[in-house]
Amino acid sequence: MDKKKKQLNVSNICCIGAGYVGGPTMAVIADKCKNIKVTVVDIDQERINSWNNSDLDKLPVFEPGLKEIIGRVRKKNLFFSTDLENSIKYADIIFISVNTPIKTSGLGAGYASDLKWVEKSSRQIADFSEGHTIVVEKSTLPVRTAKVIKDILNSSTKNPEISKTFSILSNPEFLAEGTAINDLLNPDRVLIGGEDNLAVQVLSEIYKKWIPQEKILTTNLWSSELSKLVSNAFLAQRVSSINSISALCEATGADIKEVSNAVGLDSRIGNKFLNSGPGFGGSCFKKDILNLVYLCKFFNLNEVADFWYQTVLINEWQQKRIYEEIVRKLFGNLSGKTISILGFSFKANTNDTRESPAIKISRNLLIEGAHLQIYDPKVSSHQIRNALNDFFEYKQNEEKTSSWRYFIDIYESIKGSDAIVITTEWNEFIYLDWKKIYSLMRKPAWVFDTRVILDKAKVKESGLNFWGVGDGFEKRDI
Ligand code: UDX
Ligand code: UDX
Repeated sequence: MDKKKKQLNVSNICCIGAGYVGGPTMAVIADKCKNIKVTVVDIDQERINSWNNSDLDKLPVFEPGLKEIIGRVRKKNLFFSTDLENSIKYADIIFISVNTPIKTSGLGAGYASDLKWVEKSSRQIADFSEGHTIVVEKSTLPVRTAKVIKDILNSSTKNPEISKTFSILSNPEFLAEGTAINDLLNPDRVLIGGEDNLAVQVLSEIYKKWIPQEKILTTNLWSSELSKLVSNAFLAQRVSSINSISALCEATGADIKEVSNAVGLDSRIGNKFLNSGPGFGGSCFKKDILNLVYLCKFFNLNEVADFWYQTVLINEWQQKRIYEEIVRKLFGNLSGKTISILGFSFKANTNDTRESPAIKISRNLLIEGAHLQIYDPKVSSHQIRNALNDFFEYKQNEEKTSSWRYFIDIYESIKGSDAIVITTEWNEFIYLDWKKIYSLMRKPAWVFDTRVILDKAKVKESGLNFWGVGDGFEKRDI
C-alpha cells in the first residue's frame, strides 16, 4: 500500500506514560475510536497493574467519569502494558506523555524541564518502530523540543534493515485534573502543531470523531509548543493577581469574593480563575512558568522573564503569609497544639498532591512544632508520608515536638484540635456540622478558610473564631 494512504489508516496507537495525562486521554480516544487499538505503556509495573485492577475504584488516577470509560473499553480496544517494544513496533501514532519535571541540578536547574525521559522515549521509538510513525508530543515541553526529538529519531542505528520514517507533531494537553474527562470530551480547542500536513490531518481525523472541526486548530510546531506554556502562564497569573488582591482586601476591609465577582462580571475580564486561595498547585503551573522564564532569559528577554517570575513569587508569598497568620492567631506558638488540615490534594476532585499548597503550609506548621491531624477524602496516607516525611529525616537531631496523623473520618480528625485549616475546596467541607465541630475542639477554637468556601456566619454562630483569605472583616470599622 502507498505509504501515505497507509498513514491515513490508523489501526494502532501507543502512548508512552500511563500517568494523569496519558491514562485519561487514551481512555477517551479508545472510547471514541472503537476500531483503533490503543495501548498505554509505562515503565512502572505497579502503575500498569493498578490500571488493570479489576476493582475500578483502585485505578491509579481518580477522575470523575474515568472508571466508567475504563470499564467499557479496557481489554476491548484499550490495553495497559509494560511491553514497550511491541507497542512501539505496531503503532501508527505514538503519544509521548512522560513526566517532564524541573531539573534539580546542572544547567538550568530550578527552571528548565528535565527532558531525560522524553529523550529516552524518543530513543526507544527510534529503536523499535517500523515503517512510518507519527510521533506526538503530549507532555508539555520547552519550545523547540520537537527538534530534539526529530534529531534523536533520525539518528538510530539499530535494525538498519528496517525502514523507518517519522512525522513529529505537537498536540499539547489542556485538561485540568478533576474535570479531565469533560475537558477531553468538550475541549475549548484541540491544538495540533506540525509541518507535515498529512500527519496533521491524520491526527485531526481522530479528534473529529467527537470534536467539531472548528475547534481543531492547526499551527506550526513552535506556536503549538509555546501556546501551551503561555496558556498555563496566563491562568496562573490570574490566580496570583487575585491572591495579591486578597491581601489588600484583608488590609482595607474589602471582601475578595465581592471584588472578584465585581471584576469578573466585566465580560472583557471574565469570571473564571478568579477564586482566591492558598496559591496554585499542581504539576504544571509552576513548572511551565519556570520554563517560560528560562526561555526568556535564554533569549536575553530579562524584563519578560522578571514579569512572569513574579507570578511564582506571589504564589509562594501567599502560602507563607497564610501560615504566618495561623501562627499569629494561635498566640505565636504551635508547640503542643493540634491543627486539623482538611484537604491535601492541590484542588478538589483529584487525588493528586503535586505542588499542593497543603504541603507547604503543613511543613511550615510542623516547623513550628504543631501536631497535624490530616484528612482528605481521596489522598492516601502513603502520599502524605511521601510529601512530609523528609521533613522528619531532616529534623532527626532536633527536639521533636511536631508530628502528623492521617484520618479517614473527618470528625475524628477534628477531635481535640485548636484550629482547622481548610486547604482544599472539597464540597463536603462546606456542609460540615459546625456546632458539633465546636464541641469537639479545644478552645479558643479557630477555623482558617484558605479557599473562601465557608459560610462565615454559620461558622461564627457556632462559637468558632474565623479567619478567611481576603476577608477584611476585622478592618470594617467605618
Ligand atoms: C506529564 C508531564 O508531567 C506534563 O508536563 C505533561 O503535560 C503531561 O505528562 P502526567 O501524566 O501528570 O504529566 O505525569 P505522571 O502522572 O508523572 O505520568 C508520567 C508517566 O510516565 C509515569 O507513570 C512514568 O512511570 C512514565 N514514564 C516515565 C515512562 O513510562 N517512561 C519513562 O521513561 C519515564
Ligand atoms: C492546569 C490547566 O488548567 C490545564 O489546562 C493544563 O493542561 C494543566 O494545568 P490543573 O493543574 O489540573 O490544570 O488544575 P487547574 O484547575 O488549572 O488549577 C491549578 C491550581 O490553581 C489549583 O491549585 C487550583 O486550586 C488553583 N486555582 C485555580 C485557584 O487557586 N483559583 C482559581 O480560580 C483557579
